[in-house]
Amino acid sequence: MLNKIQSLLEEIDTLNASNSEELENLRIKYLSKKGAVAALMADFRDVPVEQKKEVGIKINELKTKAFDKINALRAQLESSDNTAELEAFDITRSAYPVRLGTRHPLSLVKNEIKDIFSRLGFSLAEGPEVEDDWHVFGAMNFADDHPARDMQDTFFIESHPDVILRTHTSSVQSRVMEHTQPPIRIICPGRVYRNEAISARAHCFFHQVEGLYVDKDVSFTDLKQVLLLFAREMFGEDTQIRLRPSYFPFTEPSAEMDISCHLCGGKGCSFCKGTGWVEILGCGMVDPAVLDLNGIDSKIYKGYAFGMGVERIANLKYQVKDLRMFSENDKRFLQEFTAAN
Ligand code: PHE
Repeated sequence: MLNKIQSLLEEIDTLNASNSEELENLRIKYLSKKGAVAALMADFRDVPVEQKKEVGIKINELKTKAFDKINALRAQLESSDNTAELEAFDITRSAYPVRLGTRHPLSLVKNEIKDIFSRLGFSLAEGPEVEDDWHVFGAMNFADDHPARDMQDTFFIESHPDVILRTHTSSVQSRVMEHTQPPIRIICPGRVYRNEAISARAHCFFHQVEGLYVDKDVSFTDLKQVLLLFAREMFGEDTQIRLRPSYFPFTEPSAEMDISCHLCGGKGCSFCKGTGWVEILGCGMVDPAVLDLNGIDSKIYKGYAFGMGVERIANLKYQVKDLRMFSENDKRFLQEFTAAN
């Protein structure tokens, strides 16, 4: 019997299990009620008394060893199971499809405007939306009693009459001119605020891109060429422009620019109200007074400026009928621009 136990002890050293089924078989073989240890226990009754002690110790040794070995094999199997699980986790697999957001149509249009002008050598300038009266009006040659300063148009901060929400990004032109000497060639994109009743055609805030070029020998022809180029890049090669005389306090002469209606090609349709033209921006030669007010010598330098509404351009491009759509963040509306992203 001692020999049998000894050979079982040696056998246990060599045991191995490559899966939980094999392990269970080992457990049954050695430790179950019908297992080898139980069988030895049964035979123990017949062991002569003088040998009982020695055999008893050996059987116990065998039982403990089998128990420890099977536990060790189980632990080993569980940890390798884990590795298998990790291997099954394929980190190179592509992720679950995440629904990408879309760029806002106003950002798309603004980026396109920025791209076109940056190719023409304009750099980007930005400034604060909460401004002082000087940069929005004073430095832009607005007379003290100019109607644009009126409560109708401008949001004032009640406790600080000098602090306003900018009504145009010309304030950024002023901020650049006051600390830069020409040549200056910038575009100023940004949000502006006007105290208007909100409707399909007007909002209390909208977005602009204004441009400013100041240098020696700048002429109206330069302005016209740049705007023609812009119009053709934005609306297509066949686009025509026309300039109509207008008035702004900060430009002289001033003009408003129309483009040939890109929907009907200039023949006249409901979009252009039968005229064949749609208005897209204001522009002009910088009034010499504006240059002087901002520390640039108008005897040496000249400039042109232009300003356009991003919503207006977006409307022309995408025929959005209601201006409010741009600020409501309705996902159904925003997702219509997925293809343009
Ligand atoms: N600042 C003008 C506006 O907000 C636009 C403009 C800019 C017009 C530059 C002419 C020159 O309406």
